[in-house]
Amino acid sequence: MKKGEKGILVGIIGFVVVVMTVKGWMVSQDEEKDPGIPFYSTAPPEFAAKASVLYRKYKCRDCHLLGGLRNIMQAVPAPSLDGMGSLRDEEWLYHYFSAEDPQSIVPSRLKQRFQMPSFAGIPEADRRMLAGYIASLKVEDWYLEETKKAAYEKLTGKEYQQ
Ligand code: HEC
Repeated sequence: MKKGEKGILVGIIGFVVVVMTVKGWMVSQDEEKDPGIPFYSTAPPEFAAKASVLYRKYKCRDCHLLGGLRNIMQAVPAPSLDGMGSLRDEEWLYHYFSAEDPQSIVPSRLKQRFQMPSFAGIPEADRRMLAGYIASLKVEDWYLEETKKAAYEKLTGKEYQQ
């Protein structure tokens, strides 16, 4: 092989390597862009900001996961609140937060200290705002079905029928 030809060959191989590297990188970028679980909130930003203050004030984060965030010191097996608004509406949530005994509405198998506490004693306006906020946390329908099925089967040990 002549010197010039060798140079061209090395050039071609180099080019191929670069193209493959870039392609591989682009594919991995695509995977990172995977939207994952499709949660979203319909709350206006200002309302969401105010409600988050209450959410922190009443320590919901100690037990619940929301937006992937939970107080890492706690390990309570409480349901994630992402997408909760697709499962429960605002009135239901308000009623639940106002109940003296939340377990009469959602039965619990947990030890008492891990159970959903009653928020009947907090100001009504706070309960309303929390209900409005949690009701705004939506999830795409297909994911809700999957979650319902998984939760049902986990809780009951039976197969989920629609
Ligand atoms: C001590 C832990 C704890 C705290 C604090 C807590 N929760 Fe809960 N929550 C639970 C558990 C556990 C459940 C599941 C029912 C049960 O076991 O009592 C639950 C259930 C719920 C549900 C109903 C889920 C369903 O199945 O429909 C909602 C909504 C909810 N919590 C919202 C909140 C909000 C909002 C706050 C803060 C104001 C809060 N929780 C604070 C533990 C907690």
